[in-house]
Amino acid sequence: MGLTVAEKILQAHLVEGELKKGEEIALRIDQTLTQDATGTMAYLEFEAIGIPRVKTELSVSYVDHNLVQSDFRNADDHRFLQSVARKFGLWFSPPGNGICHQVHLERFGIPGKTLLGSDSHTPTGGGLGMLAMGAGGLDVAMAMAGKPFYLIMPKIFGIRLTGRLQPWVAARDVLLEVLRQLTVKGGVGYIMEYFGPGVAELSVTDRATITNFGAELGATTSVFPSDENTRQFLVAQGREDQWQELKADEDAVYDRVIEIDMSTLEPMIACPSSPDNVVKVSEVAGKPVAQVLIGSCTNSSLRDLTAVARILEGRETSRDVSFEVNPGSRQALENLTAQGNLLPLLQAGARVHQSGCLGCIGMGQAPPTSAISLRTFSRNFPGRSGTQNDQVYLCSPEVAVASAITGVITDPRDLGDYPEVTLPEKYLPGDERIEAPWPENAEVEIIRGPNIAPFPDFTDLPETWKGRVMLKVGDNITTDHIMPAGAKILPLRSNIPAISEYVFHAVDPDFATNMKQAAEQGVAGMIVGGDNYGQGSSREHAALAPRYLGVQVKLVKSFARIHKANLINFGIVPLCFANSEDYDLVEQGAEVVIPGIREALASGQDSLTVEVNGKPVAATIDLSPRHREILVAGGLLNWARGA
Ligand code: F3S
Repeated sequence: MGLTVAEKILQAHLVEGELKKGEEIALRIDQTLTQDATGTMAYLEFEAIGIPRVKTELSVSYVDHNLVQSDFRNADDHRFLQSVARKFGLWFSPPGNGICHQVHLERFGIPGKTLLGSDSHTPTGGGLGMLAMGAGGLDVAMAMAGKPFYLIMPKIFGIRLTGRLQPWVAARDVLLEVLRQLTVKGGVGYIMEYFGPGVAELSVTDRATITNFGAELGATTSVFPSDENTRQFLVAQGREDQWQELKADEDAVYDRVIEIDMSTLEPMIACPSSPDNVVKVSEVAGKPVAQVLIGSCTNSSLRDLTAVARILEGRETSRDVSFEVNPGSRQALENLTAQGNLLPLLQAGARVHQSGCLGCIGMGQAPPTSAISLRTFSRNFPGRSGTQNDQVYLCSPEVAVASAITGVITDPRDLGDYPEVTLPEKYLPGDERIEAPWPENAEVEIIRGPNIAPFPDFTDLPETWKGRVMLKVGDNITTDHIMPAGAKILPLRSNIPAISEYVFHAVDPDFATNMKQAAEQGVAGMIVGGDNYGQGSSREHAALAPRYLGVQVKLVKSFARIHKANLINFGIVPLCFANSEDYDLVEQGAEVVIPGIREALASGQDSLTVEVNGKPVAATIDLSPRHREILVAGGLLNWARGA
């Protein structure tokens, strides 16, 4: 039987297990990336492992999230990350150089390689034919230490592309259509692999938009073949020698297949407040818009910015709209400038910000109250923008700019002919500020600001666990609900005692205080949740900070993949209701006993009884043998030190 592209890369990197769907496998990781919001903790963890230098082929530390420097903390973290990179042999991409995924695609991505990144949009690299996966910072720290990355062998979901995008319809619309059909849970347990004649119609940056946004399907990752378009992209980047062809065998078998005829797609838009709340733009056209933001790792490549500039040529944006642009990378900004395409943006009224994440993670550019913000971003979870009752819509750059011109949500086809968009054959690299790894014998002192606290110690799992349901939440709880981001909180990410004050803040402002009071009485915490618990980002603080407060068990209907992995890494036992109706039986405040939890995990049991106010509730345990060992040890770091 032939292999898919994903299976070929998995096979080439397999160090443990077999490619059997649903079983745990271990992969060799070639490259890693971190961004600052997760990176500071990942490097504290790497230090705690005690390895003198990274063992990957290439590891990069990016600063792209905490660009706002309103006090010493972000600036201190930037210096910490730079000194750590020098000490441990990493590349360092400084603030303003761009968003990790965009820069990595341009400067480091190689078809056929594995990439592990402490950011959920790491699958962007799949546009270049990489197997690029998001994971928690601790997983990335382990990969940097030369350890394999463990995952459950996913199924392969084939998306067959045919036809060709019509003018004003963009790569973004392909994934909006996939999200409309499959929802934010549709990719769980799958690698999404694109194939078929339509693939050749998409450039690498179009493909990267699709694989990036594919993270919202809950998929393990998404991947495209590596073909002539991939080679052209690497030629433009001056890296042609790193190209290799990669395609699925003729007789490759996909576990599920859908077909998208790109010629039939129309401009689409995701309405508040979920990326799968997708309708045709024509259905919401005419609603007044207060802000248009073009940027983020999904849609801010040179292609996107050039298209926006060409559309704006000779036009102005509405004075009722704050029109803002975050270039994805310094390379994109430099080439845009060199090609004469920055001026049309400025003349049309754009507020051009530095290259980086900024508004995407609630770091600046919060929209006005209850007003519509159109964004070329990937997420519109409530409040992520920094405004509590935000109205964020997600769309292509074409829809965004058309709406910025008219001041209302606009089908861009109303603007007439699509302009010509030409890109340079060779890009200016634009990365003069990237720092290569320092030599192994260089004298480097790690610079630690006062905001950086050491990694906390955690105890192992007791034989019988006793605690209290400290919070009960519903379905689709995101990592933003658990551990919010934003300008106030991000600077605290390397200070667990400080950041833990914000756990579940928007859901229950007293949660941290209640946890601390319970801890003083020697009471541990349990969280009860619904389906798809922990969807969203790879933010490991959403596991680490609750664990610091004393949460050691979560009982839910189902977990999102990366969050479940993070819970295990920090020693929080993820249990699921054997019967989802039992969710109704467990109330907040209930006293809980789980007799023999340690033994149940250690002996490989797949179920146990949770006693809630003395009444039995059946729970299932879906964990690999290695996960069980980690949980018994109290977390991955304890396990790695003892292993
Ligand atoms: Fe940054 Fe937003 Fe992407 S925070 S990594 S641009 S999802």
